[in-house]
Amino acid sequence: MWTFILSILIVGSYGSCYWNDMCSYTLFGTKTAYDTIRGDIRDTQPLRNCEPISVWMMTRHGTRHPEEKEIHQMRQVIRVKKQILNAHMEGRGELCAQPYRYCRKRYEDILIGPKIPKEINEYINTEDFKRVQSSVQNRTGLLEPLTPKQILSLYDVCRYYRSYTVLLQDPWCAIFTNQDLKHLEFVEDIRHYYRNGHGQPMNAKLGGSSLKDLYNKFVRAKKGVKSFSVFFSHDTLLGMMYAALGLYKDDPEITGNKRAEDRKWRTSYLTPYAANFIAILNKCKNPTGSTYKVQFFVNEKELEVCEGGPCNWIQFVDKFKNFTHSNLDFCQNVSNKQF
Ligand SMILES: *[C@@H]1O[C@H](CO)[C@@H](O)[C@H](O)[C@H]1NC(C)=O
Ligand SMILES: *[C@@H]1O[C@H](CO)[C@@H](O)[C@H](O)[C@H]1NC(C)=O
Repeated sequence: MWTFILSILIVGSYGSCYWNDMCSYTLFGTKTAYDTIRGDIRDTQPLRNCEPISVWMMTRHGTRHPEEKEIHQMRQVIRVKKQILNAHMEGRGELCAQPYRYCRKRYEDILIGPKIPKEINEYINTEDFKRVQSSVQNRTGLLEPLTPKQILSLYDVCRYYRSYTVLLQDPWCAIFTNQDLKHLEFVEDIRHYYRNGHGQPMNAKLGGSSLKDLYNKFVRAKKGVKSFSVFFSHDTLLGMMYAALGLYKDDPEITGNKRAEDRKWRTSYLTPYAANFIAILNKCKNPTGSTYKVQFFVNEKELEVCEGGPCNWIQFVDKFKNFTHSNLDFCQNVSNKQF
């Protein structure tokens, strides 16, 4: 049965056939494969007369699919999770809580709050989205149109599979045209803009607490304590860090009212799988002593955080010092005590 359905999906779409369409759309929001959008840090010329003295990196996990046997074993073993969490609550162990996941206020105001469903609902009611529905119906030949929810789930099926490698195609993607995929990509960007980005001021506060660590490490490096820090996290925290730094800010802001085609907040480029943010502190020789320069990279492409290239020390302090005041006390400031 499945083979049958899949075969239909492969050969059934008239006009252009997905499998022969070499330019099929590859930007899938946060399920974008890293290779689709990455730069290569090795292409960046080293700064002249400088040497890196500290590196700070935040990276998102990449894609991987476990094997069946492994899944079974993992299911068994992850039962210890509860014990580990209990131990943490009781003050045992050396693990630390991840600064945003345990933020009650975020949970209440953002994750279960009304803003995200409102904006997405608004977009689902635009002509753009209705055209996606009609287009999917035409391509599949179904008598009834699929609901927006079904369409978004099928988009997930398509892009999860598609994200394993840039070369892999998935028959479920054949039910969408490239134009449909652009509209669906926007749904993801709305969600992330409010969940992790500039859409809610709280996100910047949460991101600031990671950047505080970056700042402190570089200040210590300047005093002689070099470090190489790598953190692994989720797209959520990367989004929050960009919000804290005021990067990729759209004006007007992203809303469900209309797809912003040239938007800066675009998860396909910001937080694909294995997304990463790297800061490098360089110590540079100059005739009057040493100076410091900080370079930034997003997905291995150099990012201009300060005007005119790498930040000098004064610019860096200007931008980052304020993060030392970050704290997460506001997280407890919730109305629902039952949480
Ligand atoms: C779907 O097919 C109908 C009937 O042929 C047509 O009017 C409509 O424009 C098509 N929709 C899209 C998005 O192509
Ligand atoms: C500095 O940090 C405080 C507290 O996090 C914040 O309220 C304030 O807006 C920040 N100032 C600037 C210039 O970013």
